[in-house]
Amino acid sequence: MKKILLTILSLCLSQVMWAQDYTKDVEKLLKKMTLEEKVGQMTQFTSSSDVTGPTLRGNVEKDVKAGHVGSLFNAVSADYTRKLQKMAVEETRLGIPLLFGYDVIHGFKTIFPIPLGEASSFDLEMMQDAARVAAEEASAAGIHWTFAPMVDVSRDPRWGRVMEGAGEDTYYNSEVAKARVKGFQGDDLAATNTVLACAKHFLAYGAPQGGRDYHTVDMSLQTLHDVYLPPFKACVDAGVETFMTSFNEINGTPSTANPYLFKDILRDQWDFEGVVVTDYTAINELIPHGIAGDLPTAGQLALNAGIDMDMEGDVFLSTLVQSVKDGKVSEKDIDNAVRRILLVKFKLGLFDDPYRYCDAEREKSVTLSQDFKNRARKAAQRSIVLLKNENQTLPLTLNNTKKIALIGPLAKSKKDVLGGWKAKGSPKQAKSLFEGMKAATKDKAELLYAKGCKMSGADTTGFAEALEVAQQSDVVVLAIGEPRTISGEAKSRSDINIPGVQTELLAHLKQAGKPIVVVLMNGRPLTLEREDELADALLETWHLGTMAGPAIADVIFGKYNPSGKLPMSFPRNVGQIPIFYNAKNTGRPFDPEKPSGYKSNYLDVPNTPLYAFGYGLSYTEFAYGDIKLSAETMQDQPITASIEVTNTGDYDGEEVVQLYIQDLIGKSTRPLKEMKGFEKIFLKKGETKTVTFTIAKEALTYHRWDMSEGVEAGDFNVYIGTSSDNVKQASFKLTKDFEVSKQYNPIKSK
Ligand code: BGC
Repeated sequence: MKKILLTILSLCLSQVMWAQDYTKDVEKLLKKMTLEEKVGQMTQFTSSSDVTGPTLRGNVEKDVKAGHVGSLFNAVSADYTRKLQKMAVEETRLGIPLLFGYDVIHGFKTIFPIPLGEASSFDLEMMQDAARVAAEEASAAGIHWTFAPMVDVSRDPRWGRVMEGAGEDTYYNSEVAKARVKGFQGDDLAATNTVLACAKHFLAYGAPQGGRDYHTVDMSLQTLHDVYLPPFKACVDAGVETFMTSFNEINGTPSTANPYLFKDILRDQWDFEGVVVTDYTAINELIPHGIAGDLPTAGQLALNAGIDMDMEGDVFLSTLVQSVKDGKVSEKDIDNAVRRILLVKFKLGLFDDPYRYCDAEREKSVTLSQDFKNRARKAAQRSIVLLKNENQTLPLTLNNTKKIALIGPLAKSKKDVLGGWKAKGSPKQAKSLFEGMKAATKDKAELLYAKGCKMSGADTTGFAEALEVAQQSDVVVLAIGEPRTISGEAKSRSDINIPGVQTELLAHLKQAGKPIVVVLMNGRPLTLEREDELADALLETWHLGTMAGPAIADVIFGKYNPSGKLPMSFPRNVGQIPIFYNAKNTGRPFDPEKPSGYKSNYLDVPNTPLYAFGYGLSYTEFAYGDIKLSAETMQDQPITASIEVTNTGDYDGEEVVQLYIQDLIGKSTRPLKEMKGFEKIFLKKGETKTVTFTIAKEALTYHRWDMSEGVEAGDFNVYIGTSSDNVKQASFKLTKDFEVSKQYNPIKSK
């Protein structure tokens, strides 16, 4: 009873904190602070573990005691954060508590699928839940702030960080962004099981030249506004509390020094009131970028661009006091930055109890709980995409499959399934495919194993044993792909094939004449033409996290009918990159029916990707009816588009019904198709459901050459279907222009 009353009391208290206006508290504290203390609050340093870049400082504890730090990251565990917090609270003049950050990207200890994998689920509730679990675990280890979600639209699979986002589409990235922010932050920031989210990396970090990490972006303002900004706006709409700058430059200005991004757009247009932190040493990097000759100038540029906190660079701390004295920056700007930082600390309740997140008991009881593992398994099942299933090779039925050969360098891996950015996830806790299949086949079928080869190198000596094992079996399951270490930050590849001799192993195993199920594990779209030819069934499982093995086994044996769809196109070869579904038509569009002549295509490869955005099969079949529009014209009011979907196959299953729109004639050219909605539905065998989408004129607007925003009256195509390249079509007319803004020169800041 006492416990229940206490919980109710703490819930009420946290609601009070949430709703409270902290302006007076912030101003009172600010008045007491020296300039040095203010600059200290604007400084974030890394602790010594999990470092993601060059460390510049040796002794973090000394810095904390000296009041030089407002936030620390990579300091993890209830006990360690408590120790550091005690130093800040008890040994500095004002006792301002520290903010602890960490990259909790797809789980803290219970690891969920990599974000690109999760995005394949098209299940927003599930993604919100995954972020919720991550927040529950991380907050119990003293963490207040995750540097996630990454909402960079990513159209180049060579870039290693595609694994961290939701793929190539703007609308979809925006929806996923909202779900993840809500999952991390919950409804109540003051609750001890929620963390601050961070929308990163502002802006266009996902479009580096040649897919090389950190590289240059040179892009029209229209594309920035129509393609790259909306997911960040979605984060603001969802209440995200923090933003992170990106490493790259855009059109000649590195983001970390760009007031157009942080002042004009983020603060003035979007009214964002939270904290902006730089990426790791991004202020220092203004020097090699070539827009600052020394650190003081770099610090001034960043502050004047609207940055509040310097991650790891020690530039604000070492230069801003002098820059104020020299009249290069104003103390007012520093005050504003400090106000925002103090405000989030108040919102988190740290001034009431700085240790409220350092809860060793909760850390023990919630971490890796059975409930979290079950949720991770569910997420992993839903993230798997069935790319090919000839002759209904899958699911395997244990009635007539008695011997299964499990082959491949990833079959027993417990490390790689965790993927990049695995936080505190441990391979010891992870379940390999071998373990998953062993548990599923127990007493029912024999599971033979051979490694076959390594993930890299040219050694084929294991092929013979693997073939022998395949020959003895009814079916082969071959686990191949990328190790976890070749996707993620600074992990760009110029070739996105399956490395080493793994594909040769697949070709070799064909000699056994047994059906081959290829289980792919990887952190990015790969070029898979050969694998697609050789395999009977192909499952894209990404890096699925702690419960990878059981989840893949669930799909292989039909306990879960796969429902994932690709959030990024899979090119046929690297030369096709960038290839994404919402491209433009051009003046000489390629026509596969009349393939000759001066057309926009390659001579040596089709214009289509191998697997398109939104593609993914099921064990069952779905039939689509025709699209029914509520009206053939639209003026001011939205119209609806409905379609009947029937499960015509032999299994119950889920389908992601996708809505795309094409604006046929505009003042500026428009993409061939743009996603504007989707719904994931469950249909029992034989069942039919009607899915209805609402189309409003607001969803049709775009930026033109002169940066005005609107949409012109004219014809539109509506497409609804099972993937971006397999849709039904209808049309409507917009009868009146709709203008949002006539902002011809959007750049206000100097
Ligand atoms: C990455 C960020 C990350 C930061 C802190 C940087 O290198 O770009 O995404 O949040 O490190 O670990």
